Amino acid sequence: MPSSEGDDERMTSDSTKDHLWWQSGVVYQIYPRSFQDTTGDGVGDLEGIRSRLDHLEWLGVDAVWISPVYPSPMADFGYDVADYTGIDPLFGTLEDLDRLVEEAHDRGLKVIMDLVPNHSSSEHPWFKESRSSRDSPKRDWYIWEDPGPDGEPPNNWLSVFGGPAWEWDEKTEQYYYHAFLVEQPDLNWRNPEVQEAMLDVIRFWLDRGVDGFRVDVMWHMIKDDQLRDNPPNPDYSDDQTPYNKLLPVYSTDQPEVHDIVAMMRDVVDEYDERLLIGEIYLPIGKLVAYYGEDGSGAHLPFNFQLVELPWDSGEIYAAVTEYEAALPPGGWPNWVLGNHDKSRIASRVGPAQARVSAVLLLTLRGTPTLYFGDEIGMPDGDVPEDQIQDPQALNLDDPSFSRDPQRTPMRWDDSEHAGFTTGEPWLPVGGDAGVTVEAQRDDPDSMLALHRRLLDLRRREPALQIGDYAPAGIEGDAFAFIREHEGRRFLTALNLGDAPVTLEPDRPVRGTVQVGTDRPREGDEVRGKIDLAADEGIVILLEE
Ligand code: GLC
Repeated sequence: MPSSEGDDERMTSDSTKDHLWWQSGVVYQIYPRSFQDTTGDGVGDLEGIRSRLDHLEWLGVDAVWISPVYPSPMADFGYDVADYTGIDPLFGTLEDLDRLVEEAHDRGLKVIMDLVPNHSSSEHPWFKESRSSRDSPKRDWYIWEDPGPDGEPPNNWLSVFGGPAWEWDEKTEQYYYHAFLVEQPDLNWRNPEVQEAMLDVIRFWLDRGVDGFRVDVMWHMIKDDQLRDNPPNPDYSDDQTPYNKLLPVYSTDQPEVHDIVAMMRDVVDEYDERLLIGEIYLPIGKLVAYYGEDGSGAHLPFNFQLVELPWDSGEIYAAVTEYEAALPPGGWPNWVLGNHDKSRIASRVGPAQARVSAVLLLTLRGTPTLYFGDEIGMPDGDVPEDQIQDPQALNLDDPSFSRDPQRTPMRWDDSEHAGFTTGEPWLPVGGDAGVTVEAQRDDPDSMLALHRRLLDLRRREPALQIGDYAPAGIEGDAFAFIREHEGRRFLTALNLGDAPVTLEPDRPVRGTVQVGTDRPREGDEVRGKIDLAADEGIVILLEE
């Protein structure tokens, strides 16, 4: 990260020094099952991540967020945690984690763990104890309720993965609540003992040198204390999962959740420059509340607008403005294009627009999170129906809800299984020609090279890391915005359509293209209007 001296712009500028690493940096999400296997069991591991630190350093990202690697029965591939302070043998050992953190740090990379505090695995000793009897000292660590008069569940709440969110326990004759799988009982965050236990988990990892957390389903952590029924969703349509039949107004986003987030933040703040990210799928107005009062909440409530919105210039341009305006004082923005739960960007918008999306993600104001494989334009993988692994699709008995396609293994080279494993990969490795790190590494026109140039420019230019944002005009499928810091100004112009567009910003443009989706354009001067080819995105350094 920028320091006081050095031989390039970034190093000589001290204008980013008032910013924290996670404000000027770029996060890269690793789905560990699918990044790199070193044992031949077909599942990625921590040593695999360590062996690929070269790639991450060369690419130019600043931090990795690793999806859960804790001991788990893997009912939801690690999002069902059976021990919050261990490492599943499938991924390695605690020592492997320590080594990974140390080597990452040696290279200037931060390591962010996934934290899954809303629910544990039903195999967690806490839950086993809790379900053992109504008198268990841990009974109240989970959400247990008596049946209704006819034996029915306490209310109408639905599980995100299908069916009711309440599971009957024969032995103790009560229901327990699970927002996700039956194997993922929700912890009772109103219980101070639960709070203390999980805050200790946070301390455990921070003491080991981990740089922060991405907190799973943060907005789910507190539920209505009266357990009121959720109302029907008038906008429900058949292409949504049945969970969406109701509006989760009482099962999620309760006001008291902010007290819990503040407790987590307090612990994180006991340490230097650690980061708290929240996974929150809510409309902007509600999302920004997770920054907390006076910044007492998450540093970065994940902003999923680029994942959720249609790929439309008007919608995106307006959403950026809305988001910028909604941020509380001191609230740092962030942007996400993809993750392990959503169809990959290259499949959602196609390969040409995926390049445009990279220019957008890496030049908007705020911390970008890049999903592994998106840097080479990996599309969703093809997973035959009889090989589906994702519990969401299996539970709903509907392949269209499978998250497997976005979780297929990283494609490193053209060898069998793309260099991911020497064994049988847990999900099929796609075969798309040219979509490997090796094929793109030395090709200056590749998606990978485009990412490197964008990351390099961003790293050298405080205006792109921490500069202000201003909209600069929209015309049909194209729009532009300006980033500025201490008089240095960059204009990003993007054509989200497949026909050429000419943008006429309010003020005539004078500048030089620094990075573009079409590399030969780099170095070109732009005067007055901006002509964009189909599917083109450029970053212009403005004169003056
Ligand atoms: C989050 C995770 C997702 C998981 C769910 C339940 O949304 O990203 O993968 O299935 O929480 O933990």
